[in-house]
Amino acid sequence: MSINTLEEKFMHGLGDIYDAEHQFLKAMEQMRPQATSETVKMMLDQHITETEGQIKNLEQAFEALGESAERVKCKGAAGIVSEGQELTKETADNPNLLDLAIASASSKVEHYEISCYRGLIAAAQQMNQPQVVQLLTKNLQQEELTAQKIEQNTPTLLQKAMNRAASA
Ligand SMILES: [Fe+2]
Repeated sequence: MSINTLEEKFMHGLGDIYDAEHQFLKAMEQMRPQATSETVKMMLDQHITETEGQIKNLEQAFEALGESAERVKCKGAAGIVSEGQELTKETADNPNLLDLAIASASSKVEHYEISCYRGLIAAAQQMNQPQVVQLLTKNLQQEELTAQKIEQNTPTLLQKAMNRAASA
C-alpha cells in the first residue's frame, strides 16, 4: 500500500509501534522466568505492567484520531526480539550472563521504542493533535526511565558476569 500523506505515514507508524509493544510484552513475559537477578526481575515486572498500560494509551491515540487500533507487523521489533531470544538461549547455562543478556536485549528494545515515540510525537505535533502527543509522551517517558534504569544497573550485572567468569 502506498503512503501519500503525513497522516497516512503517521497511522502506519502508530500501527507499527502498537504491534511492537505487543511483541515486546510477550518477549518480556517469556524472559521473566529466566531472570535470576532480583533487579532484573523487578525491572521486568514493572515494565510488563507499564507496557500493558502503554498498549491502552496507544488504543486511546487511535480513538482520538477516529481510527480503530490496528497492528502493522513490525519487522524491526521481530528482529530485536529474535536476536534477544537467541542470546538468552546461548547464555542459558550461565545465570549471570543470562541476566546481562536480558538487560542488553531490553536496552535495545527501549531505545528502539524511544526512537519510534520521538518520531511519532514530532509528527503528531505537526498534525496539531495535542491529545495524541500527550498519550505518546506518557509512553516515551516510561521508555526513557526504563532505559535509564537498565543502564544504571548494567555495571553491577557486568561485575557479576566478570566474577563468575573468573571463578569458573
Ligand atoms: Fe518499553
